[in-house]
Amino acid sequence: MQTESQDVNVKINEKPSYTYPIFIGENLIGNAQAYIEKYTSAKKLLVVTNKTIIDLYPNSLNLKNAEYIILEDGEQYKNFETYKLILEKAQELKLERKDALIAFGGGVIGDITGFCAATYLRGIDFVQIPTTLLAQVDSSVGGKVAINTEFGKNLIGAFYQPKFVLADTSVLKTLDNRQFKTGLSEVIKYAFIEKTAKCDYGFLEFLTKNVESIKQRDNKTLKELIKICCEIKAKVVNEDEKEAGLRAILNFGHTYAHAIEKVTNYTHFTHGEAVAIGMRFAFDLAKKLNTISADYYNEAISLLAKYALTYVLPSGIKKEDLIEAMSFDKKVLDNKVRFILPIGRAAVKITSGTRPEEICN
Ligand code: NAD
Ligand code: GLY
Repeated sequence: MQTESQDVNVKINEKPSYTYPIFIGENLIGNAQAYIEKYTSAKKLLVVTNKTIIDLYPNSLNLKNAEYIILEDGEQYKNFETYKLILEKAQELKLERKDALIAFGGGVIGDITGFCAATYLRGIDFVQIPTTLLAQVDSSVGGKVAINTEFGKNLIGAFYQPKFVLADTSVLKTLDNRQFKTGLSEVIKYAFIEKTAKCDYGFLEFLTKNVESIKQRDNKTLKELIKICCEIKAKVVNEDEKEAGLRAILNFGHTYAHAIEKVTNYTHFTHGEAVAIGMRFAFDLAKKLNTISADYYNEAISLLAKYALTYVLPSGIKKEDLIEAMSFDKKVLDNKVRFILPIGRAAVKITSGTRPEEICN
């Protein structure tokens, strides 16, 4: 069986030994075995997935020598108990260093599987087969892997890169509309930061021109869109794998989004919906601070509206609660947050040392 040539090459710190390919296209997952044989030396495979995905795609991966662990579906299962379950299964199967874990699912599955791979036998190979738009454009690329604790999201984790990523656009057809839009929010984020990532795909224009085919999930358009997002992310991660600086721009809209998710108990909005509100908030702040032109402000707000990424906060949310939530953000230092502010068309800057009170004023 042949594998296609790669669509994006992710390099970390310019190190060739850290380089891995991303394949993007229609009907790729049926060929997973060929990719695994080419990019790993695994004899045994443990596929981590969940009930929803395996019901939709029961035999689609077509793998030899694979065992499956099928998790409950939901962010609440990205936790210590599930981490332990997966590692126990790996031990029962006597997986060795050269074997591999396969993450087949959205960001929840990718994050927990990657963290298991990073820690089992001090690190075994893993492969990302992302099945949501969010996972294909964001979480499967760049090596952040983690689980949640009762204190917060992604608090225990590692930077651990997969051997390759297989992003099959066909599986996006079964995503419900809300989950698809959640992914689109992260997609639009890339358009707002691309110049600062030193890229020039004209992604704002691409998203403006292709609204209908993107909404209809046209495979060819999605392939192009996913490729641009992965290239922008790969460029940023190559420069700053461990988020010492530039990588923070990938969190555009996220400081406010995380606070919203926290004060609404992670139940009212999906992550992407909260990010859409966070980006709108960042544009409102930029307009107030005069860091962007009125034309660009209108262009950005109208792009969010074209994809129906407009949401209102539920009534009763207090400014003080958002401020309090922001001060618990992972990136807070001396009670100051790094806020990502638009400063021009498709450009942002990382403000250092902003107090949450100043942001929310
Ligand atoms: P998810 O994994 O919960 O998937 C969303 C829903 O879609 C689930 O119910 C899932 O079962 C279902 N689903 C998955 N694929 C499907 C398909 N093809 N058809 C139908 N339904 C399908 O959520 P997500 O949005 O993919 O990921 C969110 C997670 O990603 C969060 O835990 C977040 O912290 C993490 N994340 C990580 C990074 C990173 O860099 N590692 C970046 C962004 C987000
Ligand atoms: N999703 C943000 C990052 O990967 O850094």
